[in-house]
Amino acid sequence: MPPIARPGGPVVVTGGAGAIGTLLVEALVKRGNEVRIIDNLSSGRRAHLDRLGRPDGWKLVISDLRQDGPWTDEFRGAREVWHLAANPDIRRGTEDPRLDLEHGTIATFHVLEAMRRHDVPRVHFSSSSTVYGMPTIFPTPESYGPLLPESLYGASKLASEGLVSAYASCYGTTSYIFRFANVIGPLMTHGVLFDFFEKLARDPSRLEVLGDGRQAKSYLRTEDCVDAMLFASERTHDRVNFFNLGTGDRISVREIAEKVVRAHGGGARIEYTGGTRGWPGDIPQQDLAIDKISRLGWKARWNSAGAVDLSIEEMRQSISARTR
Ligand SMILES: NC(=O)c1ccc[n+]([C@@H]2O[C@H](COP(=O)([O-])OP(=O)(O)OC[C@H]3O[C@@H](n4cnc5c(N)ncnc54)[C@H](O)[C@@H]3O)[C@@H](O)[C@H]2O)c1
Repeated sequence: MPPIARPGGPVVVTGGAGAIGTLLVEALVKRGNEVRIIDNLSSGRRAHLDRLGRPDGWKLVISDLRQDGPWTDEFRGAREVWHLAANPDIRRGTEDPRLDLEHGTIATFHVLEAMRRHDVPRVHFSSSSTVYGMPTIFPTPESYGPLLPESLYGASKLASEGLVSAYASCYGTTSYIFRFANVIGPLMTHGVLFDFFEKLARDPSRLEVLGDGRQAKSYLRTEDCVDAMLFASERTHDRVNFFNLGTGDRISVREIAEKVVRAHGGGARIEYTGGTRGWPGDIPQQDLAIDKISRLGWKARWNSAGAVDLSIEEMRQSISARTR
């Protein structure tokens, strides 16, 4: 087992006001890091950071990574960067083809340039299973190729992985690339559960499900996602370290829809729009091999069904607290 490095000191988290970013910041502050969050609050929320308490050990800089700017000063003296900022919504990226290029690829370039300017030695990048496109091997290992993404979101993640890898080679940065399965948990402002609850709030009598419901994917709890990233970062020290992060199992959209309807009182009719994909660029079957991170000794606390159940219960409780 390689030695466990526990880096203290200042760190930069981009997208730190987002659903995954907030929990990551919380863990880093607990670890003793001074955290500098850079976020434009496009899908993240300042209120998410309330759970951290008063700004003791962290600060929020509201800036947009699409432009180089004074936000890069935050990289001075930083030990490492966690680059999570991106457009999180695959469908929006198809409607607006510049979106992922700018918030994904260009933003990643600006982050890597800021690191180079300030000699920041380590970067962690939140990539996605979408870089595999429509794989033909299941579970899909990190070594799978060719990587032919189906969405502009996936294309931007793959381009960003390329930049991260090239900066590692050209400028000596130690890099971590994490290809997430679907991540669910508190604070989400997008994704299948969020969509289903929104639809039922608008019309409690019916739930429209995109596709035939047979799409099946791995759903990882946000806490597990953060835990896995920190775990790998502390134990692997190659120039470029890359991992799939998932649960090792899957759940279908049909099962998720039925669970949500039950949690909502059971009265809604489920209507499938049909077709194998939910939307253009959707990857209907996703099953990530997690042997690589498992070999390090990491294990998810929740499987996909457990992650979905807990997240549904949290959403149900937060809706009933709001309507009380
Ligand atoms: N949630 C998932 O299922 C999932 C799956 C695979 C990969 N990812 C990746 O994980 C990361 C975090 O996702 P999340 O689910 O927490 O989404 P999120 O939307 O909650 O977080 C993204 C954050 O980035 C910020 N941001 C976006 N564009 C920015 C810009 N140009 N400048 C500054 N800040 C900007 C947003 O305001 C938000 O706070 C993203 O890179 C996402 O692509 C998420």
